[in-house]
Amino acid sequence: MRTLLRQAAVIAGLALPVVHAGEVEVLHYWTSGGEAAALDVLKQQISAEGHQWQDFVIAGGGGGNAMAELQSRVLKGRPPAAAQIKGLDIQRWARLGFLEDLNNIAEQQQWDNKLPPVVADVMKHGDQYVAVPVNVHRTNWLWVNKPLLDRLNISAPQTWEEFDVAAEAIRAAGYQVIAQGDQPWQHATLFETIALSIGGPEYYQAAYVDHDFSALKSSTTEAVFERYFKLLNWITFDDQNEWNENTAKVINGEAAFQIMGDWAKGEFKNAGLTPREDYLCVPVPGTAGQFLFNIDSFAIFQLRDVENSQIEAQNALVQNIMSESFQRTFNQNKGSIPARTDMSMADFDACARSSMNDFLAASANNALKPSIAHGLATTGTVQQYFYEKIAELTATPTTPADASSQLAKAIRYGLYVIK
Ligand code: GAL
Repeated sequence: MRTLLRQAAVIAGLALPVVHAGEVEVLHYWTSGGEAAALDVLKQQISAEGHQWQDFVIAGGGGGNAMAELQSRVLKGRPPAAAQIKGLDIQRWARLGFLEDLNNIAEQQQWDNKLPPVVADVMKHGDQYVAVPVNVHRTNWLWVNKPLLDRLNISAPQTWEEFDVAAEAIRAAGYQVIAQGDQPWQHATLFETIALSIGGPEYYQAAYVDHDFSALKSSTTEAVFERYFKLLNWITFDDQNEWNENTAKVINGEAAFQIMGDWAKGEFKNAGLTPREDYLCVPVPGTAGQFLFNIDSFAIFQLRDVENSQIEAQNALVQNIMSESFQRTFNQNKGSIPARTDMSMADFDACARSSMNDFLAASANNALKPSIAHGLATTGTVQQYFYEKIAELTATPTTPADASSQLAKAIRYGLYVIK
């Protein structure tokens, strides 16, 4: 019955304006300036169609406690219509049978022709679409305060040797070198970009996606930690630990750099800054042409015993997310690139255009890899052990050999634990 309703609603939704206003409750954790501005685009599209958006906000960068809150609501039998869930977590909810079959909408809107396989695969459980993608973020970006570097006569570093030279000069001039918050997911984000930089895509795949023990406990991982521990010397942790507070330090010239996914660009945009003039986006040294991806998406929950209008509102949400106008405006605000690869990038900024070029090129060159820090590469359990170990080693660095062996054990342990 629900499927029939859904089919009817899809057809009606495409042919006519929606007639039954319904409420659509959406769980998300987008609360920074740039994130909120991006999500507003969707809220406006939904209310323009006569539906009511109901926020279910769990604040906290990188997801925070959102999953625990979601679990408790789903187990009480009252899931939200949609929840911001990523990567392998989508599969978990789908396996448990909680997610809606979106294939009718996907066929109507021809998702298979619009999404690259690397995105579509994450949204599907078997052959069934169960989630809808909003974007593709890249994590291996170095954000640079351009006027500050210009004043010090330094160019954006492309190698770690250049980075160290620049860092010395920046610190000597009295500025923070790398702005970063003291939070496990932020350390994990920094670490994964160093892993890609030092080890390259094949090593990254073997260690952080396939969890091959001999790749994890290896001289390459030792070299990764050597560079990671060196970089920690260029970070001054203070009481500003949110990622966006640290982006603000680069924006206001307190710090020269931040290594962060391109949600940081949403903050630069929200502050009215222009890439290449006010700030630079350059690949983390040693990762030019390589791409660590983090795809944001909404998993769509099965709603039981609800008004038809709520199903219609849920359908409208899904359809709007895949519309070209949403994918354009949302991503211009969010800092990411569209999940759809059939759109012109002409009115995106220089960072987004180079991100899309690198995304497509990396995909052809086997240099496109899923982010472990953001839930695209591995299970939530392994990710948790990875977070904890990197956070511990960040607080208490050890020798690279010991760190490599500890990380390998933590990941192996995470693989065996059932949570
Ligand atoms: C990521 C998420 C991004 C961004 C960031 C900071 O995990 O995918 O969309 O919001 O966290 O909250």
